[in-house]
Amino acid sequence: MNKTEIVTAFAPGRINLIGEHTDYNNGFVLPAAIKQKITFSVTPNTSESLGTITALDLGETISFDLNHLTPIPHSWSNYVLGLCHEIIKSGSKLTGFDCSFGGNIPIGAGLSSSAALLCSAATALDKCFNLNKSKEEWMYLTQKAEHHFVGTNCGLMDMFASLHGKENHLMLFDCQHITFQYVPFDLKNFHLILLNTQVSHQLASSEYNTRRKECEEVVSVIRNNDAVVSSLRDVSMDMLNENRKSLSDTIFKRAKYVIEENARVLEAVHNLEKGDIKSLGELLYETHYGLKNDYEVSCQELDFLVSFTENMPEVAGARMMGGGFGGCTLNLVEKDASTAFLSKMKEAYFNAFGIELPHYFVEPSDGATLLS
Ligand code: GLA
Repeated sequence: MNKTEIVTAFAPGRINLIGEHTDYNNGFVLPAAIKQKITFSVTPNTSESLGTITALDLGETISFDLNHLTPIPHSWSNYVLGLCHEIIKSGSKLTGFDCSFGGNIPIGAGLSSSAALLCSAATALDKCFNLNKSKEEWMYLTQKAEHHFVGTNCGLMDMFASLHGKENHLMLFDCQHITFQYVPFDLKNFHLILLNTQVSHQLASSEYNTRRKECEEVVSVIRNNDAVVSSLRDVSMDMLNENRKSLSDTIFKRAKYVIEENARVLEAVHNLEKGDIKSLGELLYETHYGLKNDYEVSCQELDFLVSFTENMPEVAGARMMGGGFGGCTLNLVEKDASTAFLSKMKEAYFNAFGIELPHYFVEPSDGATLLS
């Protein structure tokens, strides 16, 4: 393309209605892209390998050399550097470029600003350098960038949702077969409200990787006991119980949660199809208590917000959302009662923790889009 042309793309953050910590266990998830997004612009320069990345919201710029890409400890630039590294490893060619990005996804809120950055960069670089990669290829490349340059062994859900989002729809994504279907987002007289705890505990990344290993351990124990299984998706509750004696209490609980959560995702889709929002809400509470007690990825701020809703007739369900240890809760609230709900929650949270409680209404939106 012309050396002076600017290519711009955006990619959104995501919510996940239900199906938490199931993606890297080859299970089911039910996410949606949201309207909060990152916009990424790239211009090729005349250099063979040099370039810059500017984070507009931070007012910071870093320089890079495509021939010497290595992670920079704790830097936001690792997403873009890691993506370039994976693009080159995949056999595609990049030359020097300057890029910048900015957006309105709250950082650390569990809304996948990282996937939005990766997918907006992927969409812009694809066009700029004629890479012609499919969404599926970008899903894997962006995931590898996060694994190798950021160090979180995330699943596929976030990048999947950011790439494939569709206005007014959730997506039932089968992480084993890598297939999905759009599910209309019709919550009748309810809507989804996110409440941002504004905490993101340091544990999140290391505990995430530990959970992943614990699930893999269950699979390998069951396999050693002669069953043909390649992930927790192949493990039924009966099979898990048959192997109970070979498993520690901790890893048994982890696997039990994942098996139950996969079943809840499918039930949630049925509830949505039937318009049964009350039952859907009960599933959200079950997920929360599974994540709190069996998967152990919640924290006191999230637990406080969820349990505070339990006696509110206007709330059908609530749960922590995302990887855990902070971020947002997801609340299924009657439309007419949402103003009163928000003021009660904000007051209670401030009294308990001395922290403000920002909120966001969820509007399922389109996925990554090329703007020019
Ligand atoms: C993070 C990861 C996802 C997924 C969720 C938990 O958002 O990036 O891949 O595992 O946690 O469901």
